[in-house]
Amino acid sequence: MPYNHAGEIGDVWKHLPLCDILTIEKPIRYHESNSAYSGYTITSNPKTDYGIFHLLEEKALKDSRYFEILKRNGIDNKYYTGSPGLAMDILSDKSNYYFHDIEFDALSDVILGAKKRGLEACVKTFCGDSVQAFLNKEYILDKNDFVFLDPYTPFDNNVEGFKFFDIFEKSISVGAMTLLWYGYDELEGKNRISNYIKKTATKLNAEIWCFDVWLKCMTDIDCRINPGVPGCGLACANLSKESINKLGKYLNIVGEHYSNATYCTNEASLLTESIKY
Ligand SMILES: C[S@@+](CC[C@H](N)C(=O)[O-])C[C@H]1O[C@@H](n2cnc3c(N)ncnc32)[C@H](O)[C@@H]1O
Repeated sequence: MPYNHAGEIGDVWKHLPLCDILTIEKPIRYHESNSAYSGYTITSNPKTDYGIFHLLEEKALKDSRYFEILKRNGIDNKYYTGSPGLAMDILSDKSNYYFHDIEFDALSDVILGAKKRGLEACVKTFCGDSVQAFLNKEYILDKNDFVFLDPYTPFDNNVEGFKFFDIFEKSISVGAMTLLWYGYDELEGKNRISNYIKKTATKLNAEIWCFDVWLKCMTDIDCRINPGVPGCGLACANLSKESINKLGKYLNIVGEHYSNATYCTNEASLLTESIKY
């Protein structure tokens, strides 16, 4: 089924920092494991009202790159720019792009988005399992590469028994700028992911930062509401101090903005956390 979660809280806590990180890091090669579409026509519904349409009211973000691009591309007419579109708008022809997805239609839309921006020559798409593609020995990464991994569950094994966390490890260990988005439904899921990231940091002798937002009502075993994703986080490595500071700043703004939030009349405030492993 085509990806249809655009403009929800999980997108907000991914695209807001991503726009500034790319502006700061200016990678000459940009890779996405789970690209989906370059943009979406969305509706106003409980999930987008809790997500992007609630965030757009935040004055502290009025000059952010994220808002600037969303507005330029038509958020007022309910067009939401996905991560491939945001990346192409920010990096323009100064970067080459490697977009992966298992969905042909999603990648066709990415190519269309590239054409609209005059960037077709800079874009390569790969239709298939990105775990297999990125872990191939011939898929060479170094410190000039930015790798954005965007699965829901980074533990899911592909047919060969490899997972998104294996790409995360490969990318960090070769010095590539690495950003992983992950989602979870309960605190046990959150803890499982942070324990794995902590072990990875020790194993690779790397500094990995995690920035999480999750519903206050989440318990160890479930969450009674789901406004798109009950909790999610960004784990990153090999980024500049400026990017890390930006992530921290945005985490505080989002936490504050959602401190009295409701979702379908339910209390839906967010908790936030930043940790360096
Ligand atoms: C969370 S969405 C990506 C959203 C997008 N990155 C954004 O931020 O706008 C997930 C996408 O991952 C793709 N996907 C799922 N499993 C995959 C895999 N093993 N390899 C490549 N793409 C995959 C799906 O087809 C879907 O389009």
